[in-house]
Amino acid sequence: MTMSLPYKALVPANIAFLKYWGKRDVKTQWPANHSLSMSLAQSVTTTSARVLVGASEHQISFSGTLVERTSSFGRKAYAHLDYLAKELGTQAYLQVNTSNSFPTGCGIASSASGFGALTLAAVAAWQQADSLDTLEKMGFTRHRLAALARMGSGSSCRSFWGGYVSWKVDETTGEQELVHLFSDEHWDLADTIAIFSASEKKVSSSKAHLDAWSSPLFEPRLAGIGEKEEQMINALRDKDLSALGPLLEQEALEMHAVMMSAKPSTCYLSSESISFISWLRKLRQKTGLAAYFTIDAGPNIHVICEQQDQSKLHSEIKKCYPQLDFIVDHVGKGPQLVVEAH
Ligand code: PMV
Repeated sequence: MTMSLPYKALVPANIAFLKYWGKRDVKTQWPANHSLSMSLAQSVTTTSARVLVGASEHQISFSGTLVERTSSFGRKAYAHLDYLAKELGTQAYLQVNTSNSFPTGCGIASSASGFGALTLAAVAAWQQADSLDTLEKMGFTRHRLAALARMGSGSSCRSFWGGYVSWKVDETTGEQELVHLFSDEHWDLADTIAIFSASEKKVSSSKAHLDAWSSPLFEPRLAGIGEKEEQMINALRDKDLSALGPLLEQEALEMHAVMMSAKPSTCYLSSESISFISWLRKLRQKTGLAAYFTIDAGPNIHVICEQQDQSKLHSEIKKCYPQLDFIVDHVGKGPQLVVEAH
């Protein structure tokens, strides 16, 4: 069996400010609402893919361990490769190695970076494209790559740009659109992720998405999303954290209220998450530190502040939570693609 050079994709996780929660259609990955996120710099999935000549199956390894097709991650990852191969009309099998720079499946958007990196590396290996520019010249624009990745994980489509990205749906034209709202240089926001659990969550977000419609809070949430989106975009444009921050907190709590009031009910928050949130709010009141939380589908809390305030935030966290692990991150530049020499 011979192998081509490995095509290495580095794709960031993104933290949603306006959350994608609920799907109108699973088959087309049609989201229930618009969403908006910030791409991160340090929380990244690195995936290398190369064509295996003479092989009769793909081989995916995660952090050095072979992933079985029948495992929960394997089912999704191999199915995504099968989908991509069909879309690209290729029969070639790939060897894929993937790893995350951060804990997986616990609310740090590993599915966004994971499916983004799998898509980018696989397409590059099949097309033998050594850069994003080469892919673009071959017709694989970021929009096209994002649309392919979205079929593995909806939120991954926002990871194809750095800075601040919006994922819009137009019910009348039946189109989905990704808008690169602002680059990372527009506003240097930081994300400090307080880790209360690094274990994989028990209920996957794919499952909990489907239950959203059973929550009595879901339809009212959808009715107010457009207005919230506009307010968030204005706050981002004006770099106004006193306007953005309360929206971030309200949006995260609203998504978790939908999850908790769905049938069956899913609660991703732990008692530690809740007490950290109230600590942060007290800290803000007491010191005036402009730091606000948002939360993904997990118990870990993302604290958003301006980069210049991040070290002050860390010293406050260390004073009150000396044992707490946290990830230090900030807005990033988006994906990268490189070819590794042997
Ligand atoms: O892309 P999925 O299916 O893993 O859904 C992720 C949904 C949230 O992360 C909770 C919110 C979002 O918009 O990223």
